[in-house]
Amino acid sequence: MINTNYLVIGSGIAGLTFAVKIAEKYPDRSVVIITKSTEEESNTKYAQGGVSIVLDHDKDSFKKHIEDTLIAGDGLCNEAVVEMVVKEGPARLKELLIWGANFDKDSHGNLDLGKEGGHSENRIVHHKDITGYEIERALLERAHQLENIRLLPHFFAIDLITNHHVKDKNTATNTCYGAYVLDQKKNTIITIKSDSTLLASGGVGRVYGHTTNPIIATGDGIAMAYRAKTKISDMEFIQFHPTAMYDVRGGRSSFLISEAVRGFGAYLRNEKGHRFMPDYDDRAELASRDIVSQCIDNELKKTGGTHVFLDCTHLDMPAFIAHFPNIYKHCLENHINIETDFIPVVPASHYLCGGVDVDMHGKTSITNLFACGECSRTGLHGANRLASNSLLEAMVYSHEIYKYHCNNDLTTQAITIPNWNDEGTIIPEEHIVIKHNLEELQALMRDYVGIVRSDSRLKAAIKRLDLIYNEVEDFYKQSKITASLCELRNMVNVAHLIISQSIARKENKGGFYNKDIAKN
Ligand code: FAD
Ligand code: SIN
Repeated sequence: MINTNYLVIGSGIAGLTFAVKIAEKYPDRSVVIITKSTEEESNTKYAQGGVSIVLDHDKDSFKKHIEDTLIAGDGLCNEAVVEMVVKEGPARLKELLIWGANFDKDSHGNLDLGKEGGHSENRIVHHKDITGYEIERALLERAHQLENIRLLPHFFAIDLITNHHVKDKNTATNTCYGAYVLDQKKNTIITIKSDSTLLASGGVGRVYGHTTNPIIATGDGIAMAYRAKTKISDMEFIQFHPTAMYDVRGGRSSFLISEAVRGFGAYLRNEKGHRFMPDYDDRAELASRDIVSQCIDNELKKTGGTHVFLDCTHLDMPAFIAHFPNIYKHCLENHINIETDFIPVVPASHYLCGGVDVDMHGKTSITNLFACGECSRTGLHGANRLASNSLLEAMVYSHEIYKYHCNNDLTTQAITIPNWNDEGTIIPEEHIVIKHNLEELQALMRDYVGIVRSDSRLKAAIKRLDLIYNEVEDFYKQSKITASLCELRNMVNVAHLIISQSIARKENKGGFYNKDIAKN
């Protein structure tokens, strides 16, 4: 058993920022960060384009950033949240700079501001095309300097501990007391008891086989919160990034070609070489990414192709290479010289706009449970996230959660938490059950719950998911816990939320498109 004041689940930008702030403020209190892989592995590490922040008040303004966010969100954003997040950006950036993050500067020594789809002005603060890597580096460095932070890699959160688990609870309101956690190196399950728990466990990209997300993105936090009976919303709004590199040999996609490349002037062309985006939208390649992804999907259906192309051949190459060295190198390693060759690209699942419902302090409906970053649903993104608003949201909300903790005493009274009970379970030998069900789940989500959905496909999806659910639950009940089994179970829960909330949505908005609704 570990006892701590603050338990943070996840070591991406959301978890680390909160942990650093609260540990700096209260050096006599303990912060435990658990993370299921190595400490830096996260979606944050792979963020390319940057963070959208209004800095150039001559050309840009908070008002314009707010408007761009609202337009992308297609009428479903919470305007108060949008205003708060946009206006707080500059102050949160200052903190990141103090903690040692470096961002690119222009020839006058000011921060260089890039442009991305859906943004009316240049406002993307970046570190070449590896912005997330730099932010993660700086935050981890700062976290390691603070003695009251204990960072535990390879510790996998299995379930939140709530009233359901605790007998001598002294409150009728559902309260979170910490989490059951698998120490993956020792293969034991421990109880971590905390006064306050922050879910900062990231997104769900891996529920789809084709994704820009790393393998950690299995929606664990959302599934845990769902099982603990918190409200989860907007799960139908999966954002597909228009330009994941298409692997012509394997037919897989994953490496992201940043939206900032289109911001730099690249064109999208179909297999006939035609630049198609101006046919669909006045903003052409710089329309918001829900629109660009749907247009690509339409082009592929028209031509029967598997991918389209991103053309950079007309761009200022020395400047391109200086800004996007990682993308340039990755393409070369895949035998694509972008000075002469087009990059094959295809939309891939990239980001979840919904998640665990939180208020403007990051509070969930469970007492002492907070959520931040991609696992949370704040109302900022509405039906579609504006590019580079995600890192910004995590920075602002981790601060809001920190402020709430400074102003409120969250100490819980003494309770007894039972140890994890795995009596009667056996070590799973049938790994094929996990592999087979995972592949089936990913194929189901790709083919039935993709960019364009339909009533009949969604209905078929929920039926098939039921079979997978029953098989996985049976297997889970008989087996000793492993991380891959928990991840599969979590992804099944998340898929259920995505499909059932897609069925419940009766209006096409932003990233959600059901062709049967459009017909009505
Ligand atoms: P993450 O950074 O994903 O961190 C989640 C953490 O939780 C990880 O440490 C993970 O290991 C841990 N975890 C998960 N489950 C468990 C568990 N069961 N137990 C213990 N630990 C667990 N956004 C932008 O704003 N700008 C960009 O330029 C940008 N580019 C992107 C490029 C790519 C390729 C991708 C994939 C995303 C990009 N995004 C971008 C989105 C953005 O990176 C993420 O939304 C953001 O980093 C999420 O941060 P987070 O802290 O919420 O989650
Ligand atoms: C990108 O660089 O295209 C990703 C930006 C984002 O997801 O916000």
